[in-house]
Amino acid sequence: MAGLTVRAAPARTFVTGGAGFIGSELVSALLADGGEITVLDNLSSAAPDWVDRMIPTPRLSFVEGDAASAPTVRAAMAGHDRVVHLAAGTDIAAGHGHPERDFASGIVATEVVCEAMREHGIRELWYASSGVVYGHPTRTPTAEDDGPLRPESHYAAAKVAGEAIIAGFAHLYDWRAFAFRFGNTVGARSDHGVVHDFVVKLLRDPTRLEILGDGSQAKPYVAVDDLVAGMRHAADRAPLRPLTVLNLGPEGTLLVRRVAELVIEAIGLSSDAVELSFSGAAPGGGGWPGDTAVVEFDISAARALGWQPRASASAAVQAAARGIAATYRATGRPLLTSQERRAAARLVPGPGLR
Ligand SMILES: NC(=O)c1ccc[n+]([C@@H]2O[C@H](COP(=O)([O-])OP(=O)(O)OC[C@H]3O[C@@H](n4cnc5c(N)ncnc54)[C@H](O)[C@@H]3O)[C@@H](O)[C@H]2O)c1
Repeated sequence: MAGLTVRAAPARTFVTGGAGFIGSELVSALLADGGEITVLDNLSSAAPDWVDRMIPTPRLSFVEGDAASAPTVRAAMAGHDRVVHLAAGTDIAAGHGHPERDFASGIVATEVVCEAMREHGIRELWYASSGVVYGHPTRTPTAEDDGPLRPESHYAAAKVAGEAIIAGFAHLYDWRAFAFRFGNTVGARSDHGVVHDFVVKLLRDPTRLEILGDGSQAKPYVAVDDLVAGMRHAADRAPLRPLTVLNLGPEGTLLVRRVAELVIEAIGLSSDAVELSFSGAAPGGGGWPGDTAVVEFDISAARALGWQPRASASAAVQAAARGIAATYRATGRPLLTSQERRAAARLVPGPGLR
């Protein structure tokens, strides 16, 4: 494990999915550290303005390609000393009708990334996992050692499989890997997720808001800059071991009904003036088939490393809602929920290209 924590020069980092919502924030933070970055992204759900905004940026290279394509990943990864693997299909609901998409982008791509790391002798990996891996946990709040993991969607199953693949590589090849189980991540540049979609619906019709589910789903919302800080902090401070699994989110949860109220208030509307309606709980209690109804983190492990979110979940949701609304108002971009936008653009991730 020698040589993994002390670097003579800023890292050369290879980031899959770096043009997405979380990736673009992380890439900006790593560039500010002085490192060199290569982003590999197939642009299937990238931030719409990412390429125009970021290319050219000194010390940033971009490769348009699929993380499930072994030749592409192998060629693009050469010359780096750290990998951040964020690329994944993030439309959990769409997985219901297309399991192969979640498995190609979640499982095949993770194996391809790990195999390319082995070939290039790269031994540090940060992996974007999720709080949905717990499914119905045995304990709530849920710590990282809870098990067995019981995923409730193909997306969550792919995250569990991704963690397992990484664990094997990390133990066999003397890696220092991190599986970060993210909470529901929000920010002004969110272009998917409940906060984004509530803002869009309310800007279209400020008198009513339809909420998927029965209003009782409860999730841990975290600001994207806190999340990025958590990953970097853990990578600096965690003890040397092959795989560190870490919940990154707040303590406690927000009910989705409460998220609606916070968004309404944040964008300048009055709760009394907005009629809330509920689509009803899907089997399992979530908002749609495959939605994990409750995720609540025990963040003792992150705290022990000295990290916790600076923004409360409520503050994170409200700041994100204000920022998203301001962008739509300023740009006049079409008001589409993430599902509507992906359907309109037919941004369908292709099958794994391995
Ligand atoms: N946003 C959240 O609340 C949240 C919560 C838990 C976990 N995560 C995980 O964090 C990661 C980043 O999520 P995000 O919110 O930024 O999503 P995002 O959709 O904005 O970003 C994903 C990026 O990966 C790219 N991508 C997808 N499949 C690819 C492939 N096969 N090859 C190359 N590029 C590909 C997309 O074009 C996009 O730029 C994902 O792995 C996601 O599962 C996100």
